[in-house]
Amino acid sequence: MSGSHDNMDHKPNQNSTEQLVIEGSDRPKASVMALIEKSPIASVVSNPRLPDNPIVAVNDAFEVLTGYDRAFIIGRNCRFLAGEATEPWLTEEIRRGVQQQKSVLVEILNYKKDGTAFQNAVLVAPLFDDAGELEYFLGSQVEIDADVPSLAKARRMRAVAMVKDLSKRQREVLQFIARGLLNKQIAHELGLSERTIKMHRSILMKRLDVPSAADMVRLAVEAGM
Ligand SMILES: Cc1cc2nc3c(=O)[nH]c(=O)nc-3n(C[C@H](O)[C@H](O)[C@H](O)COP(=O)(O)O)c2cc1C
Repeated sequence: MSGSHDNMDHKPNQNSTEQLVIEGSDRPKASVMALIEKSPIASVVSNPRLPDNPIVAVNDAFEVLTGYDRAFIIGRNCRFLAGEATEPWLTEEIRRGVQQQKSVLVEILNYKKDGTAFQNAVLVAPLFDDAGELEYFLGSQVEIDADVPSLAKARRMRAVAMVKDLSKRQREVLQFIARGLLNKQIAHELGLSERTIKMHRSILMKRLDVPSAADMVRLAVEAGM
């Protein structure tokens, strides 16, 4: 860990890239930073190429949701959110997703820093590099109110409805985005230019009304893609 970012004062309401720390990767990855920094949803990025798949980037919303600060979070595996009553079979489901490099969406009991338990609708999704090799995992955490169990369902229904309105081509592109593919690979898969994919991506962001790529991945997985 480089430590230099860790010592920075943290100003929660300031929207700048400084708040995002990427460590443990060879180079700071602008694309990874951009992926989560604008998301209102608590999000992390982990690096499976490092021992124990530690978190290398975290956004403000994650700190706010969990009560942990980035100095604690960065460099740690995300299992610190699990605790006594966390359902082991759900942890196993995430573990399997990580192993098989597939997206998983589970509602699992987690704990905040102060010990409060919360229902976490967590998405864990693989992100591949240009060569098609696993590079990162995206994690995004939504607190589900235990008294309103339909919130997760409502999110899914909304996601399904939004995806339904897309064109066939847009849905195809979104499917690849949900699987963690970058523009270059998607272009290759669909036999289109990278520029065309970029254009689709920005149209999709607008149509799906999502502020970041992380939210787009989440919406696609919620829609069952
Ligand atoms: C990006 C990412 C985000 C994760 N987020 C959570 C989370 O919010 N809550 C949770 O209980 N586990 C989460 N996990 C799962 C744990 O980090 C870990 O993979 C899981 O506990 C299984 O591994 P273990 O048996 O070694 O603990 C996440 C994993 C990844 C890769």
